[in-house]
Amino acid sequence: MSHGPVVIVDFGAQYNQLIARRIREQHVFCEVIPARRAAERLAEVDPSALVLSGGPMSVYDENAPAVDPAWLDGRVPVLAICYGLQAVVRAEGGEVVPALRREYGRAPLTLKEPVHPLLQGMPPTSTVWMSHGDEVRRLPAGYRLLASTPECGPAVIARADGRVLGVQFHPEVRHTEAGLTLLENFLVRVAGVPQDWTPSHFVPDAVARIQEEVGSAEALVALSGGVDSAVAAALAQRALGDRLHAVMVDNGLLRAGEVEEVRRAFPELDLTVIDARGRFVAALAGIVDPEQKRRIVGREFIRVFEEAARAHAEGVECLIQGTVYPDVIESGGGGAATIKSHHNVGGLPDDVAFRLVEPLSLLFKDEVRQVGETLGLPSALVWRQPFPGPGLSVRILGEVTAERLEVLRQADAIVRAELAGPEWDREIWQAFAVLPGIRSVGVMGDHRTYGETVIVRAVSSDDGMTADWVRLPHEVLDRLATRLVGEVAAVNRVVYDITSKPPGTIEWE
Ligand code: XMP
Repeated sequence: MSHGPVVIVDFGAQYNQLIARRIREQHVFCEVIPARRAAERLAEVDPSALVLSGGPMSVYDENAPAVDPAWLDGRVPVLAICYGLQAVVRAEGGEVVPALRREYGRAPLTLKEPVHPLLQGMPPTSTVWMSHGDEVRRLPAGYRLLASTPECGPAVIARADGRVLGVQFHPEVRHTEAGLTLLENFLVRVAGVPQDWTPSHFVPDAVARIQEEVGSAEALVALSGGVDSAVAAALAQRALGDRLHAVMVDNGLLRAGEVEEVRRAFPELDLTVIDARGRFVAALAGIVDPEQKRRIVGREFIRVFEEAARAHAEGVECLIQGTVYPDVIESGGGGAATIKSHHNVGGLPDDVAFRLVEPLSLLFKDEVRQVGETLGLPSALVWRQPFPGPGLSVRILGEVTAERLEVLRQADAIVRAELAGPEWDREIWQAFAVLPGIRSVGVMGDHRTYGETVIVRAVSSDDGMTADWVRLPHEVLDRLATRLVGEVAAVNRVVYDITSKPPGTIEWE
């Protein structure tokens, strides 16, 4: 049988990344391919199983994506989810109709055939998550019902040959209690896919692929201090040795110690650190609008990088980038064509014609971290918290100056030091200091002070989309206040931000 990837044909579902995540969690490699490009990609990869995703349309909409009958020829096992199921029913001659009531939310699933390989180990009844407006009225010939819910009828169906299976609910979302069991059953019991994929297997393959793509050329990598570019660089270094050159732009908006951290992590790398601190502060002079700050930092970065690329691009043909899978999927991607049009650095000058090499473009963030650990990168770099591209400039409200940057850098280092360690790493998504530009009156010793306020922000989050403030113990808050006022000369007051997201955002600008 095929040992190609499991391919998720994407009909536009909001949950498609989640399907990929859940399959990877079963140690099975998978790819997400947009439906319009599926035929081409499936011919290339010889998939071991197909998952047809949900999607926002009705199968009767004009231009609604359809299931290619060739996918259902029985050679490759198919699991069709939500819209995917309805498209299969339609392709196989059954009937799909608009439901009287759109079914959205939790529903109780009752198994009719609990011994079926797809359903083994699932409880006789469990909660599933539904989200659909159409429903199956009549199954195609040769299909039977394996499980149902009171509202929608056929919730799980199977073709007689056992090669095509469909679920109306979303097994990939956490609200579906036995969803992971069902997905694992499909992969292992139905499709017989080996569960042998781990990020460490990825390293030799990725190294070989970089060698193949770069050939005998030289390559350039831009290091930001973040985990993605660091892991991409470490892989490229293994692949290319001294044919790899690295550039890091010190824009003065980095946190304390970042440049040194990168230097320490890559002792052998040909690394050029470009000191552009003055240039960024000059460009930000007098600017108080957050969006304008972001635009200016982005623009200056591209200019500095352009100059560096020209200076270092002598004989360099390839640019290594740490683009990760969510970026690729979000930009409509999967597969080489869109990966090429998507780039992080952006706006490279026309006369610097690089070939882009993106070794992490099929990995999720936590997989990138595991690869980083496998490669022996320092944990501080591998487990680094997210940090905005515009850096400290969006944590200084009002004008950004070299002096205020220095105050914030010191305050930020104290917050990070106090909230470091395993007990916090699990709970804290990001912890940092903000300089709101509020001055207040205080008293230190016998003197009146009129100093800066520091806001401490610590949030927990799964993905940065929503967040909650961390219930820091009073002793920790006390130590933070004492250290910030005692050690950062300009600061005389400390406050703690207790706003969740929504309604707040994680950053202040
Ligand atoms: P907000 O403030 O929108 O932030 O709740 C959500 C997450 O995104 C990070 N962030 C950025 N990351 N460039 C980035 O690479 C940016 O311009 C940027 N702005 C915010 C933020 O740190 C948080 O993790």
